[in-house]
Amino acid sequence: MQSEFALFPEKASSLAARVDALYYFLISVSVFFASLIFVLVIYFAVKYRRRSAAEQPRPIEGDLRLELLWTIIPFGLAMIMFGWGANLYFSASRAPSDALNLYVVGKQWMWKIQHPEGRREINELHVPVGQAVKLTMTSEDVIHSFFIPAFRMKMDVVPGRYTTTWFEATKAGEYHLFCAEYCGTKHSQMIGRIVVMEPVQYEQWLKNGNGPASPPGEAPEVAGARLFQEQRCVTCHGGGIAGVKLGPSLAGLFGKSVQLQNGESVIADESYIRESILNPMAKLVAGYQPIMPTYQGQINEEGLLQLIAYIRSFGKTAEHAEETRAEQ
Ligand code: CUA
Repeated sequence: MQSEFALFPEKASSLAARVDALYYFLISVSVFFASLIFVLVIYFAVKYRRRSAAEQPRPIEGDLRLELLWTIIPFGLAMIMFGWGANLYFSASRAPSDALNLYVVGKQWMWKIQHPEGRREINELHVPVGQAVKLTMTSEDVIHSFFIPAFRMKMDVVPGRYTTTWFEATKAGEYHLFCAEYCGTKHSQMIGRIVVMEPVQYEQWLKNGNGPASPPGEAPEVAGARLFQEQRCVTCHGGGIAGVKLGPSLAGLFGKSVQLQNGESVIADESYIRESILNPMAKLVAGYQPIMPTYQGQINEEGLLQLIAYIRSFGKTAEHAEETRAEQ
């Protein structure tokens, strides 16, 4: 942190400068017009003051040129703000395809984070510099908001659904993490730190953690694979028993379009898979019977994210489902 008091937090992500530029523009436009109006109010008040009790003001007819001027200029400015803002919003909401996938679960009053390699952390987030990081987030209880001022990044974390956001840190160092949505008594203590490291150090950290060689833990997709067996998902989605296809195969599913019973189609993303586990009747896949039971209350948020990581993992290797079948 540059100083004890700074108007703006440090800029430490690839989008920070762009966010600030838009912000400066909005502030400049506001300050300019606020000052202009302020000065004109005083100027006209003095200029057109009533000079004697008998003075009668002249009627005003209006002026088309003036009308056009104060319509076109604000319209143009509003369109610049819209175009600029939309462009930036688009960049901020779509993670690059090579981004690291991290999972975040918020609860009263802590942040739980899991790395794709399996390492978990609480109220700390270690990331490599110069690498896009995508966060898929949900909450176990109430609405929280994941806010990293130095990255100019803030996203609500909502129970019952996934929100995603991304950033690319540009400067090694430590930055603040805040919860930016009032979430109960200890909301103000739901804070943490972001540690941006050189890629080599990050690799080192993944292996060793904060202490000397603490084990990294299970990768989410490995835990997901175990859940897939434990919850007997494999019975119906493992490819079929004796030629009976009870449920659709999940091989290569992630990110693909799925044809539904009602004629619509959806993209199989995190939210779709989550919904299909908790509320299987919501979106029935064309050609299958409504026989899947709900897993509401049986799998927690972390478990759901692990199952999703597992299903995503055999999007990469379609043979995975074949292996699973072979294990039966
Ligand atoms: Cu969580 Cu405020």
